[in-house]
Amino acid sequence: MKNVLFVASECSPFIKTGGLADVIGSLPQALKKYERVDVRVILPLYDEIPSEWRDKMKYETSFRVPLGWRNQEASLYSLEHNSIKYYFISNDYYFTRKGIYGYYDDGERFIFFSRAVIEVFPHLDFTPDVLHGHDWQAGIAVALAKIIQPVENLKTIFTIHNIKYQGLMPHDMFEEFFNLPSSHFGGFEWNGMLNCMKSGIFHADKVTTVSPSYAEEIKNPFFSEGLHPILLEKSEDLVGVINGIDTDEYNPMKDSHIEVNYRHSRVKKKENKVALQERLGLPISEEKPLYVMISRLVEQKGFHLIQCILEEFLQEDVQIAILGTGDEEFEGYFSHISENHPEKLKAYLAFDEGLARQMYAAADFFIMPSKFEPCGLSQLIALQYKAVPIVRETGGLKDTVTPFNELTGEGNGFSFSNYNAHDLLTVLHYSLRVYHDDTKWGKLLKNVNKSQFSWKQSAREYVNVYECTTKVTI
Ligand code: GLC
Repeated sequence: MKNVLFVASECSPFIKTGGLADVIGSLPQALKKYERVDVRVILPLYDEIPSEWRDKMKYETSFRVPLGWRNQEASLYSLEHNSIKYYFISNDYYFTRKGIYGYYDDGERFIFFSRAVIEVFPHLDFTPDVLHGHDWQAGIAVALAKIIQPVENLKTIFTIHNIKYQGLMPHDMFEEFFNLPSSHFGGFEWNGMLNCMKSGIFHADKVTTVSPSYAEEIKNPFFSEGLHPILLEKSEDLVGVINGIDTDEYNPMKDSHIEVNYRHSRVKKKENKVALQERLGLPISEEKPLYVMISRLVEQKGFHLIQCILEEFLQEDVQIAILGTGDEEFEGYFSHISENHPEKLKAYLAFDEGLARQMYAAADFFIMPSKFEPCGLSQLIALQYKAVPIVRETGGLKDTVTPFNELTGEGNGFSFSNYNAHDLLTVLHYSLRVYHDDTKWGKLLKNVNKSQFSWKQSAREYVNVYECTTKVTI
């Protein structure tokens, strides 16, 4: 059995702002179940973690964390949940705040967390063979693990979930917080800034990202957010492993949020459609095609394309439901357009997990035209709930959705390649034609039913990565 310590800034069910939390919440389970790897997870103990979890945590010990000329106190807590052990690092000054990100000193907070992860090793009840850091918040932990080697022969993996967020701060933070000789500075600096993501990439034995296509894309300046030179240098040690979803959690046969549970039944899916129409106040119709979007309302997710063509698509006999929160620009746009088209479009500007599940269950189509998408989990959930994804061919969307081909009968969705609104509109119109053609629609749904995105295969691929770095057979 190999020991792996995940270092991350969020993890379901304790604390979540995005897809990262889903992955950190479900991948350790899969690694344990399929590959017998002992994965434990270490996280900051945010005030925001609900007391139902905090009350169950066990205090382990307190220890000192050197940060430049100062020492900070940290405490270690632990909790077992679904047979995975979780560790939490607490420090009132850094983590007793509302929310989890968005503070002027986020850089310092995650330098502290990373340094605390290194200092905690002697206090843990297991000895990691691999430290596996996720996203910029864990980049410094990967770098320090490589340099300080808190246990002999510790190997490091760094996973990029989204290269857009890099954890940038003034370069003099290195001297201020790091207690390292200046010869190490180059490994942390990028374009005159201290860069946490670059630090993780530079020091890791292996770098992974969350889909094979994104692993290729980020070597290109259009996607790399400036980091392509370092990724090109590292390209032999860079691999893409597609994310899975927890198929027990996202299961239309068992989901208690939805009106009628189902497996493949189109009749039952239509009952869910009617239930959603009632809830949202849309005209009741089993037959009208229902298009759904569930997303953070941010530019990455392709909302500028939607804005260009939505009015035109609403000329068709369709219904559209939108759920999410985000940038004011898009929230304003969707409130406005739903007022103008009350019979056709409803926008629910909130984060509501129950409603999200009802929307997946009700939808005929799921629209996700992202500008870039490292992996994307919603299109996988949509497929689980038999909603046909309409996506742009980028990153994980390209790796999980194959466009429907009338001639061969292959494909589990619709896609377009260029980041162009009229290409999206063309594919939306095409989806409508297929929907109204029983034979084609039936074929497409059969392919959707066969799509599988559990963690099983990806867990194996992660173990290969661990094996490659440690060169010991598990
Ligand atoms: C980030 C990416 C998303 C990915 C998720 C989990 O949120 O934007 O594409 O699915 O991380 O890896």
